[in-house]
Amino acid sequence: MNGRPLARPAGVRNVVKDMPPPSPNRRIAIAGATGLVGRPLFFQLQRRGFRLSILSRDPAAARLLLPGAAEYLSFRPAAREGRWAAAVDGAEAVLMLAGASSFARRSGPDGRREIRESRLVANRGLVTAMADARVPPRLFVTASSVGYYGFLDGLRPSGAPPPVADERTLGGNDEISRDYRQLEGAARAAERYGVRTVVVRTGLVLATEGALPEIAARVRRFLGGIVPPGDQPLPWIHLEDEIGLWLLALDDPRVRGPLNATAPEPRTNREFMQAIARRLRRPLWLPMDGWIVRRWTGEGALLFSHGRSVAPRKALALGYRFRYPTLDGALRALLRRTELSALAPRPAGA
Ligand SMILES: NC(=O)c1ccc[n+]([C@@H]2O[C@H](COP(=O)([O-])OP(=O)(O)OC[C@H]3O[C@@H](n4cnc5c(N)ncnc54)[C@H](OP(=O)(O)O)[C@@H]3O)[C@@H](O)[C@H]2O)c1
Repeated sequence: MNGRPLARPAGVRNVVKDMPPPSPNRRIAIAGATGLVGRPLFFQLQRRGFRLSILSRDPAAARLLLPGAAEYLSFRPAAREGRWAAAVDGAEAVLMLAGASSFARRSGPDGRREIRESRLVANRGLVTAMADARVPPRLFVTASSVGYYGFLDGLRPSGAPPPVADERTLGGNDEISRDYRQLEGAARAAERYGVRTVVVRTGLVLATEGALPEIAARVRRFLGGIVPPGDQPLPWIHLEDEIGLWLLALDDPRVRGPLNATAPEPRTNREFMQAIARRLRRPLWLPMDGWIVRRWTGEGALLFSHGRSVAPRKALALGYRFRYPTLDGALRALLRRTELSALAPRPAGA
């Protein structure tokens, strides 16, 4: 989800009404700030007065996209040395959202390897920099996924509803969940250096770009449908709550280890697709599994075809109030804007 030209998604600021006062001398290093989740997170942190070190493969492009950071550094995590590593030293927090997207166009086994390796190398590089730092950061928050819990071992759910996973649930046995176990293990190595470490296990992020407008565009063209069998859950979260949970991890020292970033209202694929169709006033005719599988690599497709229910137990226990707890509320906010978006073009003549 690397669509660039989105600036400050409307309404994100509402998440942090009770935010602490700005902290002018505190610095946060962010890798992946240029992405779907990173951009609104960047603007929230900037608004709070943090000094921000941006770690990017393309610092010049990051500067254009995210003006006003303290520094823009070339992020080469495979190399131990570099100015980016110095930015980790003494930072209040290091936030890691970088890596090849699970929702990039399907690109075969090489694409899958790139997704795994890019995230693993980035986490390992950052933790090595923490080990080398004179003053390790106080906090490390890294992006993981509900893919950690597994995709029902590759079996389509049928009949009995699958068990709901929460942060206490063990990881799955399929290849993707093993990848996430490895990634989280690499990130949590930071705990050895006294760094409070949080892994954010995110479901499908609903926003005005990314997967939702692509699906909405198909529904609008009468090409939308349920992914069979339809009763498989689709763990989702509104972008604004995703940002809210990263800020919770930053603000609340009780948050450590895994933190599920999913909405509290479980929805099946059928309910998800029907809610979009209702919103766009379109019927659902064709099953959409073929398109989903052709469109996205591995996890991106599996979230739709073999997803499982994931509860945000920890966030709720800590008192986090979801701004978009219901799917209808999230779609009402997003699809209105999506309809105006170039990412969801109307069919010619419509
Ligand atoms: N979006 C979702 O629905 C979703 C769902 C589950 C989990 N997540 C997790 O949340 C994190 C943030 O999600 P997002 O949607 O904001 O990510 P994103 O937009 O796809 O990518 C974030 C950033 O990663 C860097 N990047 C892209 N391709 C890369 C590659 N091949 N190698 C190394 N770096 C690369 C880019 O930063 P630079 O160009 O500046 O280096 C990009 O802006 C991801 O790591 C993902 O694991 C997201």
